[in-house]
Amino acid sequence: MDDVVLIDHPLVQHKLTLMRRKDTSTNDFRRLLTEISTLMAYDVLHDIPMHPVTIETPFETTTANVIDGKKLVFASILRAGTGIVDGMLTVVPGARVGHIGLYRDPKTRIAVEYYFKMPGDLAERDVVVVDPMLATGHSAVAAVDRIKEYSPRSIKFVCLLACPQGIDMLRSAHPDVPIFTAAVDRELDENGYIVPGIGDAGDRIFGTT
Ligand code: URA
Repeated sequence: MDDVVLIDHPLVQHKLTLMRRKDTSTNDFRRLLTEISTLMAYDVLHDIPMHPVTIETPFETTTANVIDGKKLVFASILRAGTGIVDGMLTVVPGARVGHIGLYRDPKTRIAVEYYFKMPGDLAERDVVVVDPMLATGHSAVAAVDRIKEYSPRSIKFVCLLACPQGIDMLRSAHPDVPIFTAAVDRELDENGYIVPGIGDAGDRIFGTT
């Protein structure tokens, strides 16, 4: 699938398998999500801009490249996106964090916004929208729609699990937004959950089952 990057590194796949198991504890699930997100950041951020700085090594003056972490925004779709942001911040601690609160209307399954807070000057920043699950795709599309109102330099979407329906929905609404995922599962069930899946990501992260 064009523009869907499957992060199939063995460490990512191993941790995802542990997360899928229903007997994995909340504590372990949260830790694994942080670890997996840190590993996924390596692929997701492979093309972020760098610029040269002059530094002193123990031997001489030289120039070397750095990233400008502050130009990066991790935009978390509440509430489950928080788990991915925690992992990504371990490798880019200077990144800014935005939040978008969306709930799924139980009847229509349409995403309804209840909160939106992003750093200023999005037009100068690269935004990575994060949500562990790309299920129906409604939340992802709604989040990207809103963020695009501020014309950021670039937008990517990162999830842990996707399904064909969610991918199709996001790609048809926003073909310019690349999707990074650790797996593409079979389908959505009648309740809008990805199967085989990991269950309700928010409940598993926060222990609210
Ligand atoms: N949201 C979840 O938390 N899990 C799913 O399987 C689908 C949407």
